[in-house]
Amino acid sequence: MIKVAPSILSADYVNLQKDIEMVEKGGAEVLHIDVMDGSFVPSISYGPGFVKAIRPISKMVLDVHLMVQNPEHILPDFIDAGADIIGVQVEATQHIHRALQIIKNGGVKAEVVINPGTPVDMIKPVLHMVDQVLVMTVNPGFGGQKFLPETVAKIAELDALKKELGYDFDIEIDGGVNDQTVVDCYKAGATVAVAGSFVFDNEDPVAQINKIKDATK
Ligand code: DX5
Ligand code: ZN
Repeated sequence: MIKVAPSILSADYVNLQKDIEMVEKGGAEVLHIDVMDGSFVPSISYGPGFVKAIRPISKMVLDVHLMVQNPEHILPDFIDAGADIIGVQVEATQHIHRALQIIKNGGVKAEVVINPGTPVDMIKPVLHMVDQVLVMTVNPGFGGQKFLPETVAKIAELDALKKELGYDFDIEIDGGVNDQTVVDCYKAGATVAVAGSFVFDNEDPVAQINKIKDATK
């Protein structure tokens, strides 16, 4: 069964604590926090202070997805804020190895993220040092987009590499995930599913989490 990571990009910001507690009680293992800088992606969302505010109210794994250009300078702030996993986009830095080193040296799990247009080959040199790889299944920047089926082959390619090289990183998918699209991703090797609009744009977010889990039993 896949682990589910609700993305609070689609939550109710005025009642955020209520939404976070609801998905945690409802069985979500991970909370996905999308940080957007208005440069790497057009939107602006929230920063380290937001992560710091959430940390004391939840025991879920806080999975911070940085859609931020040149993230190196801001990594220490997210480490101090209490993130459990920090993901950096390989396209957003000329120094992916250094960025991952900073995260690991801060005692936080390191994640590398690839966009739909980025080949798996691009991250081969850093696979030995990551705890999680995030395969974007839409182009980043917005919730509520349509899943891109051509990304499934990349999940399978990554899973094959993981087995061949004996690594044990998680493979996370993000974008357009629902109880249908998750099935092929899970079969291809995905172990964590981010879901924003499918979970929160519904009267019963917990039922939506269960639908994703049931689809991957
Ligand atoms: C998109 C973000 C996602 C987003 C997913 O750039 O990285 O985490 O919240 O939203 P849905 O599940 O609605 O596609
Ligand atoms: Zn995300």
